Amino acid sequence: MILVTGGAGFIGANFVLDWLGETDEPVINLDKLTYAGNLQNLASIASNPRHIFVQGDIGDQVLIARLLSEHQPRAVINFAAESHVDRSIHGPEDFIQTNVVGTFHLLEAVRGYWGALSDTAKAEFRFLHVSTDEVYGSLGMDDAPFTETTAYAPNSPYSASKAASDHLVRAYHHTYGMPVLTTNCSNNYGPYQFPEKLIPLVMMNALAGKPLPIYGDGLNVRDWLYVGDHCSAIRAVLANGHVGEVYNIGGWNEKTNIDVVQTICTMLDEQHPDSPVTPHAELVTYVKDRAGHDRRYAIDASKIQRELGWLPAETFETGIRKTVAWYLANQDWVANIASGEYRHWVEKQYGSKS
Ligand code: NAD
Ligand code: TYD
Repeated sequence: MILVTGGAGFIGANFVLDWLGETDEPVINLDKLTYAGNLQNLASIASNPRHIFVQGDIGDQVLIARLLSEHQPRAVINFAAESHVDRSIHGPEDFIQTNVVGTFHLLEAVRGYWGALSDTAKAEFRFLHVSTDEVYGSLGMDDAPFTETTAYAPNSPYSASKAASDHLVRAYHHTYGMPVLTTNCSNNYGPYQFPEKLIPLVMMNALAGKPLPIYGDGLNVRDWLYVGDHCSAIRAVLANGHVGEVYNIGGWNEKTNIDVVQTICTMLDEQHPDSPVTPHAELVTYVKDRAGHDRRYAIDASKIQRELGWLPAETFETGIRKTVAWYLANQDWVANIASGEYRHWVEKQYGSKS
C-alpha cells in the first residue's frame, strides 16, 4: 500500500480517487482536515475498503511512525501543505509550521521506518514530495520556462516555505540516501478545488452574480495543468522516476489571468444563460494587486516527457470545459463550502468512522 498525506484537499483527493480507479493498491490517507481539507471530496469512496482515512498532522512524528509501522507502505506521497499564496501573505506562520516543520517531522518519521526495512524493501521504497513551480520565482515575458535546474528564487511566504521543504527532501537523499523524488508542478485546476483559488472563485462568483476580482492589470501569466494530468504524471514519476531526481510537471498552457476569466465567462454564457448577471464578463472587476505578485510562471515539462513518456492529455480548452461542467453539476459542493456546512457534513458522515 501507499501512504498519501493531504488526500482530502484538492489535488490529494483527485489523486486518491484516481489511484483507486487505476490500481489495485490500498491507500492510507493522512490529512489534518484544515479549512482546505474536505472529506466530501472523498464521498464516493467512503465505504471502499482500500481507502483508510486518518485525521492527523504531518508534524505528528509519533502518529506517522505508528502508521508506517502498522501499514508498512512501499511509498509515501506528500501533498499536505498550506497552499494559498494570499493566505500566506496575511498569516505566514501556518505555512512555516506545516510546509517546513511538518515536512521535517514527516521526513524524520519516514527515515526511521525506512532505515529499519530490509535491503530490498529499502531500495524499492519511495518518498515522493509534491512541490510547486513557484519556488523558481517570477519570469519575464521573454524568459525561457523553468527547467529542473532553474535556480530557486521564491518570492512569497508560501513559495519560500515550499522551497525550504524541497531542500529538506533533497538533503535527506544526499545525506541519508533516502530514495526521494520531487515534482514541481504548475497551477492545477479541475474538480474539488477550494473556491479561494482563481478558477473556482470565478465560477462561484459568476454564478452568484458577484464581482470577479482581477488583481492588478490581469496580465499575470500562469501555466495551467488539469488535475487529472497531474495525477497521471505523479503515477509515472512514482513508477519510473529516477531516485533523487526532480521532475517539472506543466500543461504547456500559458494564459493571462484575464484570458482565463474571459474563457470561463464565455463558457458560462453558453452553458448557464440564466445567471443573475449576463454576459458574465460584465462582472469582471479590477482590484488592488496582490503584494509581491509574481508576473509569470511557465514550466518546461520536456524532461518528464523524454524520460518517462508523460504528456498532458488535456489542452486548456478541453480541461476548462470539463471543469466548468463539473462546477455546474456540483453546485451543492460549492454551496456547502461557502456556508461552512461541509464541516457539519463531515461530522454527520464520518463521525462514527473516524
Ligand atoms: P489544498 O490546500 O487544497 O489541500 C491541502 C490539504 O493538506 C488539505 O486537505 C489540508 O487539510 C491538508 N493539510 C494541511 N496541513 C496539514 C498538516 N499539517 N498535516 C496533514 N494535512 C494537512 O492544496 P492542493 O491545491 O491540493 O495542493 C496539494 C499540494 O500540491 C501542496 O503541497 C501544494 O503546495 C502543491 N501544489 C499545488 C498547486 C495548485 O495549483 N493547487 C500547484 C503546485 C503545487
Ligand atoms: P491563485 O489561484 O491564487 O494561484 P497562484 O497564486 O498560486 O498562482 O491565483 C492565480 C492567479 O490569479 C494569480 O496570478 C493571482 C490571480 N488572482 C486574481 O487575479 N484574482 C483572485 O481573486 C485570485 C484568487 C487570484
